[in-house]
Amino acid sequence: MASTHAHMVMVRAFAPGKCILFGEHAVVYGHPAVAVAIDSGVEVELTESESWTIDGKSFDAARHPHISHILYDVFGYDGAPLQIGIRSGLFSAAGLGSSAALSNAMGAAVQALMRPGEAIDSVELARIGHAAEAKAQAGRASPADTATSALGGCVVVSGEPVDGARHVFDAELETPEGRREWSVCKVDLPENLDAWLVLGFTGIGSPTGDMVAGVASLLQRDPSKYADMDAIAKITQAGLTALGAGNLEAVGMAMDACHERLQSLEVSSPELDALVEVVRPHSLGAKLTGAGGGGCMVALTQDPQRVAEEIEIAGGTPLISRLGAEGVRLLEGK
Ligand code: MEV
Repeated sequence: MASTHAHMVMVRAFAPGKCILFGEHAVVYGHPAVAVAIDSGVEVELTESESWTIDGKSFDAARHPHISHILYDVFGYDGAPLQIGIRSGLFSAAGLGSSAALSNAMGAAVQALMRPGEAIDSVELARIGHAAEAKAQAGRASPADTATSALGGCVVVSGEPVDGARHVFDAELETPEGRREWSVCKVDLPENLDAWLVLGFTGIGSPTGDMVAGVASLLQRDPSKYADMDAIAKITQAGLTALGAGNLEAVGMAMDACHERLQSLEVSSPELDALVEVVRPHSLGAKLTGAGGGGCMVALTQDPQRVAEEIEIAGGTPLISRLGAEGVRLLEGK
């Protein structure tokens, strides 16, 4: 925390986006998912001020429900008016957890303002974020995005026991399909993994809530699709074992297999399939990531520049990241 003036307290916080390697959609039904925090994310800067502003314009709480929810409902903020600055390095509605990152960065900044000197509580932030996502996704949200952005590294979220993972906290939610419980665990990745993630944004925004609702109605119309969910759970466990052992080829194969199952669940799109196709010759594996419909695909590769170029030539927007960046954190003043 830094103060540029005796009465002008300023705090800055950053939370990373996330990339789901295995288990999106299946995790909503209690199966495991594996996600890593990525290098890009959302930064929030709060400065005590004479009047309320957001990114230089006047702040209207009703137009920013996510932010006012954290300020007032969660933290009961009643301090001085704030100048709120938000910078995002993530594509939004793209499956990279931008709303989770915003929620975590905002929550960390408000925690720092209201409880100066205290370490930020990343588990509390993950819980706050999960509740907000559940509201935004009509009661069907796993804690995967918010926990990965809060805790950083590699996170496994599962309703079933998972081998080789360290338990951090439990989460639960009443969903339209019944009550769900997840345990949120961390996994240590081997050091110096010789591979990068390259995300490719299709340019098409896709609200997670719509995609999750689409899968729910597909399962209702065609219960045979539950077989895809079960297959994704097996692929996820195999992918996680491969990741922990640093067996990148097997991780890539599991990613390819996961993409096929997501296609069968009707959450891919021609644009996602096209990007996955062009990167395959230069990748260990590739799949859509997050909710699908539009949004992003991800490739695991040892040649990130080449993959980024292929994505760009095919009309997508690339973003290169290491696997498993640090979680939500406070930043030094300007
Ligand atoms: C979205 O990033 C991941 C989904 O599995 C939804 C969720 O976990 O809440 C599609």
